[in-house]
Amino acid sequence: MAIAIRPLQPFGGEVGGVDLGETSLPETIAAIEAGLDRHALLVFHDQFISDEQQVVFTANFGPLLKENNKMTRAEDRRLDAAFADVSNLDKGARLRSRDDKSRMSSLANRLWHSDGAFRVVPAKYSFLSGRAVPPSGGNTEIADMRAAYDALDAAMKAEVADLVCEHSLMTPRLELGFTQFTAEERASFAPVRQPLVRVHPVTGRKSLFLSAHAGGIVGWPVPEAKAFLRDLTEHATQPAFVCVHRWRAGDLIVWDNRQTMHRVRRFDDLTQVRDMRRTTVICDGPLAVQAA
Ligand code: OGA
Ligand code: MN
Repeated sequence: MAIAIRPLQPFGGEVGGVDLGETSLPETIAAIEAGLDRHALLVFHDQFISDEQQVVFTANFGPLLKENNKMTRAEDRRLDAAFADVSNLDKGARLRSRDDKSRMSSLANRLWHSDGAFRVVPAKYSFLSGRAVPPSGGNTEIADMRAAYDALDAAMKAEVADLVCEHSLMTPRLELGFTQFTAEERASFAPVRQPLVRVHPVTGRKSLFLSAHAGGIVGWPVPEAKAFLRDLTEHATQPAFVCVHRWRAGDLIVWDNRQTMHRVRRFDDLTQVRDMRRTTVICDGPLAVQAA
């Protein structure tokens, strides 16, 4: 069966006819990549893959992000370094307790963000595999940053055109009142500059590069920047631009971080298991404003 992509509303595509655990044919990978360029989000069902299969599949799309889980000590990690452990489980596969530091840090995933926006080389594609999903809650929402840009009026497009934001891993956490950073962590999360408008290298479409990591705009007073970014985020995440993914075990979804933001919704994480594992492909290099 050949790969087929059925468009979702308001954006995204549901992919059929492919087994991600099988050795990937170049034409299949090319079709998936073209689907991501166009739809920015792809959903695959019934993909009961192993960690190894997920890594092999992901590596078809470029270099993997290898330094995940910055907020969990290496000896406390449940998964290989190729994975962002987005679950609510600790190394012994027990539910994390309410005041667990990694749990509190990961609550930042409830805020709209683009993966790795705080990194010099940000994330390109994120592959999120749902190994165990809770009976209710825990949806992932993905917002279309191309549609958000397109819907700005001409004056706003002119205003945002050349703005540069400063992103840090600490910003969304501090926003939630999480302050347990070690001195070493604080030093390693110095702000990274990203353009507020980015152009997709293949399609040429413009997107708003927003993320909860953005804590300021270069040359602007901080409160004015934060208020402005809040307004833009509210605009960009209105329901007309958001695809809601309701998980079934075996789902794997892929989003293009260059064209989307995402967040997880609340669920009963103290009693229900949500075992989500993310592999990530990084961009080719820093964006121009950071490289400069
Ligand atoms: C991520 C993330 C959201 C979720 O994996 O980067 O933000 O629904 N996940 O778990
Ligand atoms: Mn994320």
